[in-house]
Amino acid sequence: MSGPAAAQIIQDRQIELISNALTEKGYVLLTDFLPLALAQSLLIEIHSLSDHAFKPAAIGRDNLQQLNENIRSNTLHWLTGNTLVQQQYLAVKEQLRIGINRALFMGLFDFECHYSHYAPGDFYKRHVDAFKGESNRVLSTVLYLNPDWQSKDAGELVMYDPISSASILTVQPLFNSCLLFLSDKFPHEVLVTQADRYSIAGWFRVNGTLFGNLDPPR
Ligand code: OGA
Ligand code: MN
Repeated sequence: MSGPAAAQIIQDRQIELISNALTEKGYVLLTDFLPLALAQSLLIEIHSLSDHAFKPAAIGRDNLQQLNENIRSNTLHWLTGNTLVQQQYLAVKEQLRIGINRALFMGLFDFECHYSHYAPGDFYKRHVDAFKGESNRVLSTVLYLNPDWQSKDAGELVMYDPISSASILTVQPLFNSCLLFLSDKFPHEVLVTQADRYSIAGWFRVNGTLFGNLDPPR
C-alpha cells in the first residue's frame, strides 16, 4: 500500500517489556494496549457487524461440527483488512511482529485474526492453540473490547501451567487489554459468560513450509 507511513504506535520500551515477559514467563497481559481512538473504532465496527456476519468456528461434517460445539460455542468473523480500522489494527500487529522478531528472533512471518463474540452462555473449553510441531501458530494474542465489563459477567480467560495444570492467570476481558502468550505452551479456557463478550483473537505464525506441510484451508 502507498501513502504516508503509519505512525509508530508500538514503542521500543513496550517491545522490551513484552520480549522480557515472553522470555521469562511466556505470557504478558498489557492494559491500555491501543490508542483509545483505535480501540473505540474497533468496538464500533464489531457492534456494527450483524449476527449473521459471525460464524461458528468450523464448517465440517455434522459430527465434527457437533464435537466442535461441545468445545466452543462462540462465533467469529475473520479480519480481512478491507476497512480502515482493520488496516490500522493489522498495522499495529505488524509493528509488534517486527519488534518482537528483532528482539527475540522468533521468525514471526504473518498474522491472522478474527473478531469473537460470546453471547451469554457461551464458552470455550480448555484447549491449546497449537500443538508442538503441528501448527505454525506460535504467538497468540487476544484483545478485549468490553467497556462496561463487571465481575458478575464472568467469562474470564483462565490460563493453566503446562506442567502442573494449576491455574496461573485469570483475565477479565476488559476494554483495550491485550494478552500475549506462546501458542504451543499454555492450555487456557473461556469460562461461561453472562454478558455479550467481544474480543479479537489472533496468531502470529511462522512460515508453514518450514515444517514441510501446508496450512489447512480456513
Ligand atoms: C481462542 C481463545 C480467548 C478469549 O480464540 O483461541 O482462546 O479470551 N480466545 O477470547
Ligand atoms: Mn485459544
